Amino acid sequence: MQKTAKEYIIFPLDFPSMEAAQSHIRQLDDRVGMFKIGLELFIRQGPAVVEMVRKMSGAGIFLDLKLHDISTTVGRAMASVADLGVDLVTVHGASSQKMLGAAVKNAGKTKVLAVTLLTDNDAATVRAQGFKDEYVNAPEKLVLLRARMALDAGCAGVVCSGRETAMLKTQLGKECLIVTPGIRPQWCLTPGDDQKRVVTPLKAVQAGSDYIVIGRPIRDADDPARAAEKVALEIEAGLSGPVA
Ligand code: C5P
Repeated sequence: MQKTAKEYIIFPLDFPSMEAAQSHIRQLDDRVGMFKIGLELFIRQGPAVVEMVRKMSGAGIFLDLKLHDISTTVGRAMASVADLGVDLVTVHGASSQKMLGAAVKNAGKTKVLAVTLLTDNDAATVRAQGFKDEYVNAPEKLVLLRARMALDAGCAGVVCSGRETAMLKTQLGKECLIVTPGIRPQWCLTPGDDQKRVVTPLKAVQAGSDYIVIGRPIRDADDPARAAEKVALEIEAGLSGPVA
């Protein structure tokens, strides 16, 4: 069955407290497909956040931990993640294939996604990390390299910028699940945004993203529910209209 527009939307619960997160879950519950629990809230509250989201909403749960450690440690951490029964979890794609494989092996039914290159990283960041010019001049090559390694290790897919989605779908096939953060609708493009490789919801979905992570444009809107509806409408147009 084809996904509805709102099911493409993942809303990150980037809040310092349960109360702030709960207020947004109430407003967005039937307007998004998944809630993402990130480091800020998970470090403060632990697995109780997962329980809280599950009690309040029927939406999916994405635990964005971006794990990166030795294979044994990540494998053991992933066994704990499996017990939480969330839908998606992230590990860092900058690590070894062995670590990615250990994560997948212990994740149970939870799908493991590898973060390829953070969307607030640009060419200058890649250079500062010591990469060759080949990757500095074309960060998408680094994204492809990491995505291939992740799939070879058994990951269900990757997290990448909307600018790389189409290329990855072509190179790796439609089965590779793609989650795209760094989403900015036209109505909220602001100079000085920390996200560098941004795309609109429409462009991300047209490029083939399976899910888009969209936080501040919804969280900081005067009416978050209305903002989420606007994003869903834009996605719907992208799904039914011709590819730009
Ligand atoms: O839309 P906004 O910029 O507020 O979304 C930020 C969220 O997306 C954060 O939760 C951040 O961790 C997540 N994210 C990201 N870039 C990635 C992976 C996840 O910005 N590559």
